[in-house]
Amino acid sequence: MTAPQGTWHEACALDAVKEGEPLGLEIAGAQLAIYRVGADFFATGNICSHAEAMLSDGLLDGYEIECPLHNGRFDIRSGEALTSPVEIDIPTYPVRIEGDRLQVYLPGE
Ligand code: FES
Repeated sequence: MTAPQGTWHEACALDAVKEGEPLGLEIAGAQLAIYRVGADFFATGNICSHAEAMLSDGLLDGYEIECPLHNGRFDIRSGEALTSPVEIDIPTYPVRIEGDRLQVYLPGE
């Protein structure tokens, strides 16, 4: 069994991601939300697993993103669904810093 293949993609400039202001991006056909907490960056899927609202329109509280539609919360580090009505986790993606740019690792070519 081989590990799933993935690719690093350019995401955005680091300073495009403001603390407390999630950034929604489409990269290689994937809808992503990018977050900054202090000096750290995180990437998750941007579509809420409950009813498809955009999490980048939600409120970031520490490491938790609150969906703007029904206020379900996810942990942006693990994608774990934390509070009702969300029950299904969202995907998370590795990120890395290259100079003043952020890159994200997505499955596939
Ligand atoms: Fe996100 Fe309902 S759409 S909690």
